[in-house]
Amino acid sequence: MKNRKLLLENVHIPGIETYDVYRKNGGYRSVEKALKSLTPDEVVEEVKKSGLRGRGGAGFPTGMKWSFLAKPEGIPRYLVCNADESEPGTFKDRYLMEKIPHLLVEGMITASYALGANTSYIYIRGEFMYILHILEKAIAEAYDNGFLGKNILGKGYDLDLFVVPGGGAYICGEETALLESLEGKRGNPRIKPPFPAVKGLWGAPTVVNNVETIAAVVPIVNDGGEAYAAIGIGRSTGTKLISACGNLVKPGVYEIDLGLSVEEFIYGDDYCQGIKNNKKLKACVPGGSSVPILPHYLVTKTANGDDRLMSYESLAEGAFASGSMLGSGGFIVFDEDQCIVRNTWNFTRFYAHESCGQCSPCREGTGWMEKVLYRLETGNGNLRDIDLLAEINKKIEGNTICPLGDAAAWPVAAAIRHFRDEFEWHVSHKEEAIKRNYGLSKEPMLA
Ligand SMILES: Cc1cc2nc3c(=O)[nH]c(=O)nc-3n(C[C@H](O)[C@H](O)[C@H](O)COP(=O)(O)O)c2cc1C
Repeated sequence: MKNRKLLLENVHIPGIETYDVYRKNGGYRSVEKALKSLTPDEVVEEVKKSGLRGRGGAGFPTGMKWSFLAKPEGIPRYLVCNADESEPGTFKDRYLMEKIPHLLVEGMITASYALGANTSYIYIRGEFMYILHILEKAIAEAYDNGFLGKNILGKGYDLDLFVVPGGGAYICGEETALLESLEGKRGNPRIKPPFPAVKGLWGAPTVVNNVETIAAVVPIVNDGGEAYAAIGIGRSTGTKLISACGNLVKPGVYEIDLGLSVEEFIYGDDYCQGIKNNKKLKACVPGGSSVPILPHYLVTKTANGDDRLMSYESLAEGAFASGSMLGSGGFIVFDEDQCIVRNTWNFTRFYAHESCGQCSPCREGTGWMEKVLYRLETGNGNLRDIDLLAEINKKIEGNTICPLGDAAAWPVAAAIRHFRDEFEWHVSHKEEAIKRNYGLSKEPMLA
């Protein structure tokens, strides 16, 4: 399959982070096309035709989300870009913003025009302060060249774009927590409904979209929604940025056509070039730390024996029994030497630390899971602990205001489902488990 690039085609051009080089290489064409020859509704229509699905994790159709935006007279509407990117294993948005910041700025202008927003925000992870400065520079250049501000391109459309640093918490990536944080409050998720499309930022209709989703609007408007929809497979249209990490020969950020086989992605010369040090593949978390882990025999093939593809549908094939999710495209690969218990503990430690504490099943449950997993990993567990984990899991899943609880529960459930023998090994081989425990103290860190 052709390794075509719609977002990262120009990232290696020297100076592409500057307005002049970006513009010389076709930059800001989508703004010109939209403002000069398309109505806002026509831009929304192109996005609908493209089949683009949100790249932040859930894969909700972007055109549909845009068409839900309430448009009451006399009330402003907002577009907010979610650049909080804190999911372990996911680093594609950071790459895009750092390398080609004008692509995001261009996407924000074209998308804001489509939605009728006159003030838009990029909410960026607080730790990405250096990228905030890169974006601020790009925004200033866009103002200087008449693509932001009053009467853009003389077409009577006004837009101000701000970049705002995040609160330094994973939960601030959840869209309603993000809006709370943007309003200057503690980033606690809101109860939905009302959804942001009706009552979002400062109570006004708001669209929240991921960085990559907004960037994809640029090629969609330039080439048309149908051209975008022709790439990919089924309802997984277009290209997708994948951040590949773990025990790979060539980790990094790749732009792939959706529908590429997982086998080619892991082993192909154009992609990750196989498992490092000639080791065997043990497992893969294909969509960021929140999605179920796949054991090696379900990574490149589904349970029916079909080739597993990099698509929303194929990665989910088999549902939670034998499938996973594309999620945010954080593709984490484990070789035969990696300990699944240790990794599950590590992920859970993250969720326990990042739970906002608003819902007790998540606040308490993630903490308990962390302690029990640490006990197992450090050779202090017993067989009942494995069932206890499954029990706690059931109490969290589906019982919280936002999906952080599910994101914490699913990886533990999947690890036990596929690697129960490894959890049991930690109980039956306590001494060896303790010996392998380099660098970990025997007391739970969060006790
Ligand atoms: C705990 C949590 C963290 C999230 N973090 C992010 C994030 O960093 N970036 C992101 O785009 N979406 C994140 N999401 C998903 C957002 O809530 C939202 O669905 C997304 O920004 C919508 O954009 P999209 O439709 O373009 O995917 C997170 C969700 C949860 C529950």
